[in-house]
Amino acid sequence: MDLIIKNGTIITTSESYVADIGVKDGKIVAIGTNLKEEGANVVDANGKLVLPGAIDAHTHLAMPFGGTVSADSYLAGTRAAACGGVTTVFDYPMQRKGKGIIETVEGRKEICDREACVDYAFHCCITDLNNGAILDEFKDAVEYGVTSFKCFLVYKKEGMMVDDATLVKILLKAKETGAMTNIHAENPDLIDLNIEKFLKEGKTSAWYHYLSRPEYVEAEADKRAIHWAKSMEAPLYLVHMADKEGLEAAIEAKREGYDIYIETCPQYLEFTCDVYKREDGRNFVCSPPMKNKESQDALWKAIKAGEIDTIATDHCPFQSYEKDWGKDDFTKIPNGCAGVENLYPYMLSAANEGKLSFNNVVELCSTNPAKIFGCTQKGSITVGKDADIVIYDPSKDFTISVDNMHSDYDHTIWEGKTLYGYPVKTFVRGNLVYDNGEFVGKIGLGEFVKRIGRK
Ligand code: URP
Ligand code: ZN
Ligand code: ZN
Repeated sequence: MDLIIKNGTIITTSESYVADIGVKDGKIVAIGTNLKEEGANVVDANGKLVLPGAIDAHTHLAMPFGGTVSADSYLAGTRAAACGGVTTVFDYPMQRKGKGIIETVEGRKEICDREACVDYAFHCCITDLNNGAILDEFKDAVEYGVTSFKCFLVYKKEGMMVDDATLVKILLKAKETGAMTNIHAENPDLIDLNIEKFLKEGKTSAWYHYLSRPEYVEAEADKRAIHWAKSMEAPLYLVHMADKEGLEAAIEAKREGYDIYIETCPQYLEFTCDVYKREDGRNFVCSPPMKNKESQDALWKAIKAGEIDTIATDHCPFQSYEKDWGKDDFTKIPNGCAGVENLYPYMLSAANEGKLSFNNVVELCSTNPAKIFGCTQKGSITVGKDADIVIYDPSKDFTISVDNMHSDYDHTIWEGKTLYGYPVKTFVRGNLVYDNGEFVGKIGLGEFVKRIGRK
């Protein structure tokens, strides 16, 4: 063993128990009491929780979007991830007309190989089927280790939307090849109708971002996606769910036995649409927008009932000057907010405050994303798995500020939020990458996670 983590309370999805963890060559090789080995680096975790590293199944790093590029490079975003206890990120490369899936992913993988500070995987966004060639490539992509594809039912003018026929073709091909279809569900025609009306009326503040994409805009698209997935008996993963009506439809489909998974994000659990009435409301602009209190309560209720599968961030920050483009016109605000460094601390603090258990948080932020997306070496503290480990101090309070984050953005929607408990160490495959407030990892340490398909 080259690393022994001693006397911590190990958290799994069902148990919490005190034990030592032995690590060799990046893998967990032993869990027991009184583990010893000469020469091993010994870390005392007495009084601390020992958790599997979080998997943020939804980031947009260096993403060209909204007339600019999201503010976190792969280096900055994965450095921040490490400092928030995230040991694997799933990024979303964007396939464009004429380009293949593997070609698209490899362009991004090359950057990650140089820059990534934690492990990384890809869901590939599909925007054009290239006359069917993309569907023919699904099998090879799954073999390559990219086993999930995202469809935007929105962003029509941006050329990213897929229509219903394309969606159905993707659902069927994904089912055939053991892949998963991820959906961003909002109805673009309704959004455009609302935007046109508000702009004509001179209603241009960030509040109208919410009013142009309220609950019903997401619910219609959620239900449409669920309808097609059920009809095709194909697996479906709904990303960043934020509205009550769509959520209830998804939960019902799950109860009926359909292969449907629900992701939500911390921002929808913390903020409501009221943030768009603030002077700095534009900083909170993301799509789907934060929704009303009823939707937020429904999300928490579903989490507590075990009906939500994953919590991920949709990390897509933009700098203040870019958000300012939309000071007088909400349609010019680049959509997206920061979150990768806040995911695990936020959810663990919620557990510390008694809203859910630490076991639930491990399930939502690590074990479930690993299982759903075929990361066989990740997602739990088990002998044989990668030593992706977070040591968490439940008595260390922490107030989030842009100054104590490790990204490249210059503001955060989480500014001033106090968390009860905080990660103190993060290990990626046994390598210490975060230590008490400091990034101590190595740029380029992150490895591509080759996932396995669903059959
Ligand atoms: O506002 C958001 N969510 N920006 C990132 C792209 C997306 O829709 O996921
Ligand atoms: Zn999205
Ligand atoms: Zn997203």
